[in-house]
Parts: sequence; C-alpha cells; structure tokens
Amino acid sequence: MKKLSLALTTLALTFSAGSAFADSSSACDAGERIVKFSHVTGGTTHPKVVAANNFADRVNKEMNGKLCVVVYPNSTLFGDSKELEALLLGDVQLLAPSLSKFGSYSPKYGVFDLPFIFKDMDHAIRFTKTEEGKDLLMAMEDNAGFVGLGYWMSGMKYFSANKKLILPSDAEGLKFRVQTSDVAKSMISAMGASPQAMAFSEVYGALQTGVVDGQENTWSNIYTKKFYEVQDSITETNHQLLAYLFMTSKDFLDSLSAADREQFLAIADTVTQEANESVKAKEAANRANILKAGGKINTLTAEQRQTWVDTMKPVWKKFEGDIGKDVINAAAGA
Ligand code: LMR
Repeated sequence: MKKLSLALTTLALTFSAGSAFADSSSACDAGERIVKFSHVTGGTTHPKVVAANNFADRVNKEMNGKLCVVVYPNSTLFGDSKELEALLLGDVQLLAPSLSKFGSYSPKYGVFDLPFIFKDMDHAIRFTKTEEGKDLLMAMEDNAGFVGLGYWMSGMKYFSANKKLILPSDAEGLKFRVQTSDVAKSMISAMGASPQAMAFSEVYGALQTGVVDGQENTWSNIYTKKFYEVQDSITETNHQLLAYLFMTSKDFLDSLSAADREQFLAIADTVTQEANESVKAKEAANRANILKAGGKINTLTAEQRQTWVDTMKPVWKKFEGDIGKDVINAAAGA
C-alpha cells in the first residue's frame, strides 16, 4: 500500500464515482493483490462505512505487500442489484449486503426481517452467537459459494413517510420502498400499504419525486442519505433489524495460503467485534444529526407501538415454513 492513505482513497471514491477505478489501483503497490470491497452506503459516520474502512486499513497495514483492500462505497462499483452476481463472477471479493437481500439464495435469512422479533441490537447479536445463528453464516456456501465472515449490526429500523405516521392505519394506501425481501413486502401489505422493491441508491429520488411515499431504515441511513429532507417525519417504530453479512467467496478464501487466510479471518473477527461494539453510539449520533439538520422524529406511546406489533405479527406465521420454526424460536428466545 503506497503512502496515500486508504481513508483519502475512499473519500475520493465517495465524491467522484467516475474516477473510482483509477483512484483505487493507484493506492496499491505493484505485486500486491487487489481485493475489492463494494458496498452501497455513504457518508463518513455510517457504521458500515466505518467498519469497511477499518477492515481495509487493518489488512493493508498488517498484510502489507500481500493484499491491498480497496473500498468502493456508495454503489460506485456495484449497486445492490448487481453486487452478489459480481461476487459470484469474481469481479469483487468483499461485500456487506443487508441480510434482507438474500431471499433468492436462502429464505432462512428472512428470520432477521421478521417484524419485532428482536427487541434491540443486543438481542440480535445474542442470536448470531447461537448454533442457528452461526449456521446461517454459511447458509449460501453450498449453493452459491458465499462465505459469511461475520454479522455487522446496522441498527433498528424506523418508518418515514410524506405524512405523519402514528398508527399503522395512517400508512394505509401509501407506497413504501422496501428491500428485496418477501418478509418486508408482507409486512407492508399487512399495514394496508403497497411495497415497492428498489435499489438503495434510488430511494432518495423516488421519495423526492413521489414514486413512493415512504421507506423504512436506520438513523444512519436516513441521515447519510438525507431521506429526512424529502419526508414529513420519521416514526420511532423500532420494528425491524437492519444488519449485514460481511462476506466473501469460497473461491477467494481458497486462493489464499493457509497462513494468509488465517490472518485475514482473524482481522475480520476483530473488525466485526469492534463494529458491533460501536454501532449503538453511531446510531444515536446519527439520530441527533437528523434532528440538528431539521428532520422531525415522532415518538410513540407504548399503546400506539402495540398497534404496530399487533398489525405485523401475523407475518411470522406466513414465513414459518420457509425459515423454520427452530430458527424463529432461537431468534425470538435469544
Ligand atoms: C437498504 O437497502 O435500505 C439498506 O440495505 C442499505 C444498507 O446497506 O444499509
């Protein structure tokens, strides 16, 4: 890795998508193997941005001369409709997609999307440490050759819309952008609203032009993508988890020497732990940033929140067969 710091490189990529390829390779020394890490989030305060840069910095320092990780944030290399295919083809080596995006590879990941299954991120982290949670890290190894390196928490999700939402009935008839998750689609339908699956990079424009009326996301995504600018307000529903699978391909891992693989996996473990330890503070800071920037947040009474729980709970039953009762019970009881 040349002296040009990776942080500068990723910053340059954030603001100048056109020069992404030239900037990235110039940061690596001749002879170093370039490892491309593509993701879709942006800004400087987002948990995934920080964790991805931290991983790159660590590998580039500790495995200097061997590997050179280059991070492409903000969908500058691949958007979320193409990144898994790119990993299959070997056009990228590292990703951290939302767990809601794996439906076509393994429906079991739907457990992470079940509304109100996790009370908070600590609860979700406990589940990832159970046998069922650990098994899911490798659920796509046999059919796609994808290998989970760790779960990165991102935050709980909140609804925003172009009108104030206090009860689920306020959302009736509205269109909501969702990720490509059947569970999320069912959840929106249960509210009497219409789900529209869409890539993350298109959400701001779709909210601004009225293609959709609302969306659901974490404080960090709502702040760094400025969704609050084009929504009436955000409602603190806390209804679902957003977490990522930090992942690579079996082909890439197998191509490393045993010693390099061990070092690479050890760095991945350390960075995963650090990311999950600091995510709550990042979310809280970005909630405050939204308010500072003029965004409005609606809080709910316990009674109001219960109406969201009651409206969405039937979704669990619908996906019990796909996800497995054992996995749902392990998650709910973690
Ligand atoms: C979304 O599409 O809303 C999120 O998955 C984006 C992300 O990666 O946080």
